[in-house]
Amino acid sequence: MGVLDARVALVTGGRGGAGRAVCARLEAEGATVYAGDLTNDGTIGGKSGPGTFLRFDVTSEDEVRAGIQLIEAEQGRLDIVVNAAGIEVEKTVEETSLDDWNTIFAINVTGTFLTSKYALPMLRQSPAASIINFGSYDGYIADPKLAAYCATKGAVHMITKAMAVDHGPEGIRVNAICPGYIDTPMLQQFIPDGVDPAEARKEAEAVHPLRTIGTPTDMANLVFWLASDEARYATGQLWVLDGGLSAQVQQMRLPNQR
Ligand SMILES: NC(=O)c1ccc[n+]([C@@H]2O[C@H](COP(=O)([O-])OP(=O)(O)OC[C@H]3O[C@@H](n4cnc5c(N)ncnc54)[C@H](O)[C@@H]3O)[C@@H](O)[C@H]2O)c1
Repeated sequence: MGVLDARVALVTGGRGGAGRAVCARLEAEGATVYAGDLTNDGTIGGKSGPGTFLRFDVTSEDEVRAGIQLIEAEQGRLDIVVNAAGIEVEKTVEETSLDDWNTIFAINVTGTFLTSKYALPMLRQSPAASIINFGSYDGYIADPKLAAYCATKGAVHMITKAMAVDHGPEGIRVNAICPGYIDTPMLQQFIPDGVDPAEARKEAEAVHPLRTIGTPTDMANLVFWLASDEARYATGQLWVLDGGLSAQVQQMRLPNQR
């Protein structure tokens, strides 16, 4: 018997690095999983599964509403929503166009808002409803050249707390996971052209107290726990998962201190 037997989950960005691992874990624990994304092969070239692919553009109110109606028609319930769809824009404020700004806010923030909004009526009927948003340690501290991204993650952190406050009395828990460096297509894309990916990885690992970067499985483990009944008393929180990176002062990055 799985811990999540009979539960139904929707994972946006379900064909991305994190989303795929989350879908696989929730499915392995017994949930029926819908992987909402733009295409079935996502960014990492998989063909199908885990989870049932659902075309689900988080920026489109019509598509979000229709996707959630389809889950209601097929399953009659929804218990877990994971808002993992997201993009990065690697620019300073000055370099960021209004179009860049609107696009990243539409996916990272409006997407979380719309998916949650239309999922809430079914979540309210669930005996164990859980929303898990993808924030970032960039919602606490800023990486260089990620201005709009940092701003979107700060917004995701606050909508997480606001929804937890509004919907806690209805039995709906809302949390965010805040990953640091996690090895997914998004992180690989962050490595500048001309930089050897193996060197970049070594550099990144060296500045982490745990001397390693995270994996999609690390994110899926935390999402699973937050979705499960073991987390029944956890809500409104921002769960940082960064190998200790944000716990250390910058001086620790000096070469003689690595
Ligand atoms: N990888 C990291 O180091 C890291 C760190 C902190 C936070 N995060 C967050 O984790 C989440 C997942 O990131 P990832 O690393 O798996 O990235 P990823 O690029 O591998 O996956 C993101 C997925 O979102 C999908 N997506 C993009 N626009 C969409 C839209 N309009 N509608 C539906 N789906 C859409 C993409 O198709 C892709 O499959 C993101 O919110 C990201 O900001 C990642």
